[in-house]
Parts: sequence; structure tokens; C-alpha cells
Amino acid sequence: SKSYTLTLLPGDGIGPEVISVAKNALQLVGSLEGIEFKFKEMPMGGAALDLTGVPLPEETLSAAKESDAVLLGAIGGYKWDNNEKHLKPETGLLQLRAGLQVFANLRPATVLPQLVDASTLKKEVAEGVDLMVVRELTGGIYFGKPRGFGKNENGEETGFNTEVYAANEIDRIARVAFETARKRRGKLCSVDKANVLERRVDEECDGGGGRRRRRGKRTMVVAEKKRTENNANMLTFSVIEWLVLQTQCGEGDVCIHFMLFLIFPIGQSTTNVNLLIECAALLCDNGQASMLWRKIVTNIASEFPDVELSHMYVDNAAMQLVRNPKQFDTIVTNNIFGDILSDEASMITGSIGMLPSASLGASGPGLFEPIHGSAPDIAGQDKANPLATVLSAAMLLKYGLGEEKAAQRIEAAVLDALDRGYRTGDIYSTGLKLVGCKEMGEEVLKSIDSKVAAA
Ligand code: NAD
Ligand code: IPM
Ligand code: MN
Repeated sequence: SKSYTLTLLPGDGIGPEVISVAKNALQLVGSLEGIEFKFKEMPMGGAALDLTGVPLPEETLSAAKESDAVLLGAIGGYKWDNNEKHLKPETGLLQLRAGLQVFANLRPATVLPQLVDASTLKKEVAEGVDLMVVRELTGGIYFGKPRGFGKNENGEETGFNTEVYAANEIDRIARVAFETARKRRGKLCSVDKANVLERRVDEECDGGGGRRRRRGKRTMVVAEKKRTENNANMLTFSVIEWLVLQTQCGEGDVCIHFMLFLIFPIGQSTTNVNLLIECAALLCDNGQASMLWRKIVTNIASEFPDVELSHMYVDNAAMQLVRNPKQFDTIVTNNIFGDILSDEASMITGSIGMLPSASLGASGPGLFEPIHGSAPDIAGQDKANPLATVLSAAMLLKYGLGEEKAAQRIEAAVLDALDRGYRTGDIYSTGLKLVGCKEMGEEVLKSIDSKVAAA
């Protein structure tokens, strides 16, 4: 029979409560599917700090690396909030993600028919929402350097962090996102802040019949060079730059129209104007002046012609998520935007206590965890909703081990327990059966069993 080693990291707060439920569910589906699980429970986060003095002991990381998959509860709590950076539970979690190189964090948000009423949004808005946030997990501002504290010119204290992405980090998360969208409804929305963060115009047109050439230089640099040769050329290049920056055109027509209007008064030859039209069209095609993020995502799109790519600024995305969440299928975004948007998306589904996640790398074990934290406000009271962690265990089976049938058993059991009316406080509405974390866990086990009896 098949056998897997799973590292369990209960962590802090409600972490141990929800992990215990998920562990029982895994054990039961394992026995039904002829799968043996060897569980290795290791300290992590605040629990590890108290025990060993560090938030991610070496033994914990090596156990995680050596196992087939890792299931984490949650970490963090008031007790450690004022610790130095390297002695915070959260730092341990970042070290774990980096150590396992799990750069792709899949965070599905699905409104279950049973929980439409638990959503804070109107029924017609929430019903049928089924989206996937693909969050970059090992880069961006969470890890960027330089970071730290200093002084500015006025001698005033400063604190700084750096949002940085290398091209290959964007490339690989974008590929995961396109592949994900391809298997879903074929729509990918890349969320960024291209209107404010650094961007450049690095497509330029060469003379001689409008040949397109990529030189990776800024248009402004070209403009500088041309200035000495020909003042008019400098102006035209400046106009292109202006156009590209001013018009957020996905529509080449608008862009060209603007340009003709501006170029003719400058008095260019027809050849030059044609060239410039081509150039503007090219810039428009490529999503104009871009952050590196937007440029790379756009470039990769040509390899996925079956996926419809769109771009959205993060502030608008936050608004659209509550205005009309059904417009989204797959969302790809950076580490920090993904963190925020997935918490927002969770409320559409009724509760953050429902949302699982899978963090995957190019190889090696995946890390599976609910998207919520250690919920210190309800910890130790048997109030936590364990379903986000139970569903994370299902993702572990599916994405981590390729055990689709076992994963489906768990998912079906969660739906069945909800169908039978069981609710923890976070998803409760009148007329239903209010239960605690443990009892919800027992009901899930009963559902796993009864599905077998029915089959
Ligand atoms: P949180 O997610 O822990 O809690 C936010 C709110 O949601 C709280 O009111 C909490 O009671 C509720 N909630 C969360 N999970 C729930 C569940 N399963 N069932 C019912 N209600 C639930 O976020 P926070 O309060 O901002 O953070 C608390 C601590 O957790 C902090 O130390 C933070 O750093 C840490 N944290 C850890 C993780 C993680 O381990 N992956 C994620 C987020 C936050
Ligand atoms: C999450 C959490 C973590 C994050 C924290 C605890 C480091 O909020 O898993 O969503 O920001 O990634
Ligand atoms: Mn978070």
C-alpha cells in the first residue's frame, strides 16, 4: 500500500485545534483509500520560539523538506508581537516558505451554495463566485532588500522596505497562473500598480521602413541621442513617450489618433509619420510603458492564446472584488497584493475560516495552510472553523500527492456536513446547528464515513 510522510506544523493559537481536525480527516480517508500517512509533528512559530528560541528550528525545516507534504495550522500571537524581527513567528513562516521554495500560492475562493447566506454580500452578487488567486509567495516586499531603519537628510528616523522582482520570478509565477487559468475558465487578470510603480518604455522603432526592433533602452535615451541630430526627431520621440505615459491604451486606434494629431503640427515627413504610427501601435499592443511585472506577464500571454489576459490596478481590483466578483476567474499578483486580496475574497465566501491554500515550488514538497492566522481572539475556546484547514488537507492530497480521489472524499464530506446544517460561529445563521471546532470535525468524519456507506 502507498505510504506518505506528512509534516504537521500546528503552530500557535487556533493552529493546533484546526490541525487536529484535519489530521483525523486525513487518517480516515487514508484508511479508506489504502493510503498510510506517517505524521511528523514539529514545532513552528511562537511554539517553537518558546521551546527552542527560534521560530523555525533547523529540525523543523529539514523534516519539512524530507516529507512528502507539509500541513501548517497558523502562527503568531500577542506574546511574540514585540519580538525582534528575526525572533517573530511570522519570520519563521517566511523562512519556511523560502526554505521550501514554494513560490506559487494558490488561494481559491469559492462561494459554496450552502454558505451563500453567510456572505456579507448580497445573494445575487455572491452566488456562484469561483475564483483563484495565484499569489507570488517568495519574493516582493516580503523579502526585498534593502530593508531596515535609517535616517533621512533631516536626521529623522526612517523605515524602509523594497518591492523587488527579478524577471525570472515574474516569469515563473505568470506561467503557473496561465496554466491555472487554462484549466479553469480561461480568464486571467493580472493585478499590479503599473500606474505608480517603476516602469519604462523599452520598445522602440528603428528607421528604414518601420522595422520593429527591441533594444531594451528607454525611449528617453533615444530622444537624448536624437536631440543632437535633429530637434524635430527629439520632439517626436518625446511625443511618443508622452503618449505612452498619458494614454492607458489597450486600443491602438486611440493612441494613433492622438499621435497624428500631435505629430503633424511638428511637420514630419510622411515616412517618419508612418514609422511613428507603427511604433505607437507596437507600444499599444505591448501594453505600453510597463512595470516589469506587466511587461513579462504580457509577453508570456502569446504562449497561451487560449487564455484571455487582462490587467487591473490593485485598488480597482479591491473594489471590483466586492462590486462584481463573478467577473474574475484567475487572478495573478505579487506577494503583498495577493495577501490582501485573498483575505478580502474570503469574506465573499462567508468567512476566512473557509479558505484553504496550496503553496508549490518547481519541485519538492508543497506547503498547505489555511489563509487565516492564529486568531488569538478565539484561541483555546473551541470556536475556530476547522474547514479551511480540512480543505487545505484536500489540496494537499490533490496538488501535493496527486491523490485526487482522497481529496474529493474530503471535499464531499465538508459539503455534506454543511448540508446537514452544522456551522461554526463564523458561518452561522439562524435555524442551523451551532457547533465548535471539535464537533465540526466529528461531523466531517461522520460525513466521510456515511459517503462510504452510501456508495
Ligand atoms: P487572523 O486571521 O488570525 O484573524 C482575523 C479574524 O478572523 C479574527 O477575528 C479571527 O477570530 C477570525 N478568524 C480567523 N480564522 C478563523 C477561523 N478558522 N474560524 C473562525 N474565525 C477565524 O488574523 P489577525 O488577527 O490579523 O492575526 C492574528 C495572528 O495571526 C498574528 O500574529 C498574525 O501575524 C498571524 N497570522 C498568521 C497567518 C499564518 O499563520 N499563515 C496568517 C495570518 C495572520
Ligand atoms: C498569510 C499571512 C502571512 C503573510 C503572515 C503571517 C506572514 O498573513 O499567510 O496570509 O503575510 O503571508
Ligand atoms: Mn494573510
